[in-house]
Amino acid sequence: MKAAIYTQYGPPDIVVQITDVEKPVPKDDELLIKVNAASVNPLDSHLMKGGPYIVRVLLGLGKPKIKRPGVDVAGQVEAVGENVTQFKSGDAVFGLCKGTFAEHVCAPESAVVIKPDNVTFEQAAAVPVAALTALQGLRDKAKIRPGQKVLINGAAGGVGTLAVQIAKFFGAHVTAVCSTRNVDMVRSIGADHVIDYTQQDFTKINPGQCYDIIFDNVGNHSLSACRRLLNPKGINLMVGVLGGRGILSLLTRLVTALVWSRFISQKFICFIAKLNKQDLTLLSELLATGKLTPVIDKCYSLNQVPEAIRYLSEQHARGKVVIILQ
Ligand SMILES: NC(=O)c1ccc[n+]([C@@H]2O[C@H](COP(=O)([O-])OP(=O)(O)OC[C@H]3O[C@@H](n4cnc5c(N)ncnc54)[C@H](OP(=O)(O)O)[C@@H]3O)[C@@H](O)[C@H]2O)c1
Repeated sequence: MKAAIYTQYGPPDIVVQITDVEKPVPKDDELLIKVNAASVNPLDSHLMKGGPYIVRVLLGLGKPKIKRPGVDVAGQVEAVGENVTQFKSGDAVFGLCKGTFAEHVCAPESAVVIKPDNVTFEQAAAVPVAALTALQGLRDKAKIRPGQKVLINGAAGGVGTLAVQIAKFFGAHVTAVCSTRNVDMVRSIGADHVIDYTQQDFTKINPGQCYDIIFDNVGNHSLSACRRLLNPKGINLMVGVLGGRGILSLLTRLVTALVWSRFISQKFICFIAKLNKQDLTLLSELLATGKLTPVIDKCYSLNQVPEAIRYLSEQHARGKVVIILQ
């Protein structure tokens, strides 16, 4: 079968090859999935580039340990291991596993759920990592409640477009921050108020405006500036950093947040989303009931995986970038 692989660190156009590899065989607790669609996440390009260098201690010093990009998947079950009880051959599923930019993958039973009929494979593949991040950040870390004011910085990207909809599902009042070309799109997915960052700096307008939650995908404002916008019990979720800010800037933010946690009433929380089958099931229900509709920017073929990763790493995708396998 065909799969995207890389055996050295570097930019996707140089290191990714689409090549024949052995079709995987499911273990007892796994499903063999014929992949229909997979989606791209910033993590794919971070792992591939192997930077900053310090993270190579974990990723492999000379060569990457992970050689197959892609974690989000949607497809059809082709075979099941002997301990699998919840799925059968022919089921349409979506979820998470390793190396999903490939014609077939094996996923543990605990990492996938049934795809609702009303969404396409492309839409389902757009959901797992980005929507788990939005759900776990807003619900578990920020304890979102109806009527709360939430600001989402980077609202037009993969995580942001899902975070806007999930915050609305929890009954929040959502302010979305994006560039001019995305203002109408984020409004169409439910944002109550939109700030165009090319016209206004959200940390400078309307001083005294207080948010209960800042869901920050971008990390382009100082923590002090964000703190001024938070109510006394407000929570700032440091979801990600875009714009090529270095490891030093990230570490400084983390240390600041840690020190502040002892002295101030607001919370600055950094978190990594985790695979959780119950959460995937909830996301599947939100898709089935139309409460969550993934925004898909561009679709690429397996041969175009390098282009897709490069496009996403330009950091201006509108929603999710998807690889279509069949
Ligand atoms: N913590 C976790 O578990 C977790 C999980 C997944 C992702 N992440 C991180 O979260 C971040 C977002 O991920 P993603 O998948 O959403 O990335 P993405 O799809 O590449 O995000 C691109 C979006 O960022 C927006 N953007 C770029 N510069 C901006 C700025 N200055 N102000 C506001 N918006 C800006 C762009 O909107 P415009 O085109 O309108 O500028 C674009 O829509 C990344 O850093 C990623 O690594 C963290």
